[in-house]
Amino acid sequence: SAAEKGGYDYFMLKEIAEQPKAVADTLLGRIDAAGSLTLDEVRIPVSVLREVDKVVIVACGTAYHAGMIAKLAIEHWTRIPCETELASEFRYRDPILDRRTLVIAISQSGETMDTLMALRHAREQGAKVLAICNTNGSTIPRESDAVLYTHAGPEVAVASTKAFLTQLVACYLVALYLGQVRGTKWGDEIRAVIRDLASIAQDVDQVLETMEPVRELARSLAGKNTVLFLGRHVGYPVALEGALKLKELAYMHAEGFAAGELKHGPIALIEPDLPVVVVVPSPRGRSVLHDKIVSNIQEIRARGARTIVIAEVGDEAVVPYADHLIRIPATPTLLQPLVATVPLQVFACELATARGNEVDQPRNLAKSVTVE
Ligand code: AGP
Repeated sequence: SAAEKGGYDYFMLKEIAEQPKAVADTLLGRIDAAGSLTLDEVRIPVSVLREVDKVVIVACGTAYHAGMIAKLAIEHWTRIPCETELASEFRYRDPILDRRTLVIAISQSGETMDTLMALRHAREQGAKVLAICNTNGSTIPRESDAVLYTHAGPEVAVASTKAFLTQLVACYLVALYLGQVRGTKWGDEIRAVIRDLASIAQDVDQVLETMEPVRELARSLAGKNTVLFLGRHVGYPVALEGALKLKELAYMHAEGFAAGELKHGPIALIEPDLPVVVVVPSPRGRSVLHDKIVSNIQEIRARGARTIVIAEVGDEAVVPYADHLIRIPATPTLLQPLVATVPLQVFACELATARGNEVDQPRNLAKSVTVE
């Protein structure tokens, strides 16, 4: 009913709008006044976490994209080797796991069969399993050694939005917590990131307030068949997520690429007027990547692509090559997906509406996939 949707036409729109609160709620009570993480609810003894020598993340779909970003955060902040794998592939390749492996299973519903089977396999091999989940008491947290709940509230729309942002927050918390218990050398950076996390909900809110041009752009592209998405580092999973949203909602051919792969094949797809969304890393910090992406944008534009550029406020280098420029607030590199994903959600939702598709219940899809 309209009341359930809080006055929005679709649950998805309501859930997109709820993201600042979902993010804030997921942080609530988990960082103390001194800026330390208090994750006592993660009932894996600190002595065990100190001995972990490998992290493996398993998940599907959108949760998998959160896991790809988590890998970068975990390796950067803790220096523990981490791999992220599609849950549906994991147990069929006889993965190497033992008592010192921490497996993180990410799932909104907590009922995804592929993810459940992967965590069962991991536990049989003696690994410890930490679930990141949005649904209290669901199967995945019940079968795990510990759980860190995301506090997104119920997500009804099939296309995941607020669950994704809170999965990212939970992953950052786990990465920072692992760093904290192991006495990582990134002390100052970790303190700075924790400070930035505290204000990140406001940044998400700010993005939501500037989405009208994105909706307009989406409507203008309703007749297109293909949209490509490019990104690097954390921007690559964001590109994959943007493409997944568009497939699910707009039933368009959408593909995400690592921008560095362009010249290894995908650039052959570029043709006049093809919309290409590019997620640009911050020009501060890892500026080498920034400059490389700017040349990618130049290259595809020279071949006639319609460039849709998502870039940090104040990034002037992209201006000459952007047919459409979507601004996002400045954040630390690893946190950028929290703000960069939001325009892609709005874009896909508006395109679905413009194409006359059912937004909350896309064809052929179920909210949780409880079969393998
Ligand atoms: C996201 O928009 C999808 N509907 C889907 O990829 C989903 O993220 C995936 O099925 C995993 O679901 P889960 O988080 O409930 O395990």
